[in-house]
Amino acid sequence: MKFVIANWKMNGNFELVNQMMNGIGKGRDCCKVIVCPPAALITSFKGFEHDLGAQNCFYEEKGAFTGENSPKLLKEIGCKYVILGHSERRAIFHESDELIFKKWNVAIKCGLTPIVCIGETLEERDKWKDVLAAQLASYCADKSLDLHKTIFAYEPIWSIGTGKVPSKREIEEAIGFIKGIIGSERDYYAVYGGSVNGSNSSEILSIDGLDGVLVGSASLKISDFNAIINSVSA
Ligand code: 13P
Repeated sequence: MKFVIANWKMNGNFELVNQMMNGIGKGRDCCKVIVCPPAALITSFKGFEHDLGAQNCFYEEKGAFTGENSPKLLKEIGCKYVILGHSERRAIFHESDELIFKKWNVAIKCGLTPIVCIGETLEERDKWKDVLAAQLASYCADKSLDLHKTIFAYEPIWSIGTGKVPSKREIEEAIGFIKGIIGSERDYYAVYGGSVNGSNSSEILSIDGLDGVLVGSASLKISDFNAIINSVSA
């Protein structure tokens, strides 16, 4: 089974919700579709046949945190997943690994499955293993920590929105590295994100050990997103 996860970022509107509600089929057993729209659109997906996720949450369930999204409420309005530590949040909102791990803990407590994003910048390419190891340190420190099916998303920052995709071998190596340091006995998945589209998805999805893809811009066009879903081989 492979995940095909849509991250709409701060895009989309009611029109796109309707297109997606009507435009993507029931899916197949080999593929789990998760759509992560902006928070303001989540409740418009009433009766959606696939799973929903949020793009962020706060590290407390409730309280005096003006403007933040409660993980407990996200769960109550129908989210099953939450993206945490996307590189845009790390870069623009200065989110640290420590903060992301705090959010991870509360998301788990509230019954959300976290999709934790990690990845190196272009400048960090020659030391990508160190970067990933540091971003994963909290999840690796205690091998008995229950990961509750966390989805780790390897998103090299230089590939996001650029059309530049690492080679199949490079993605396979990164996924192997992630799975190696987290450990094979534990309860988690590893997906790839960065310029995935209908033309490259079947090659990416055939990578050994890869559990799926996280899709940005190509998830905003139903025909492109369907092409990615249909490229998952049964
Ligand atoms: P693109 O697919 O637009 O490169 O974005 C990837 C991403 O950031 C998904 O979280």
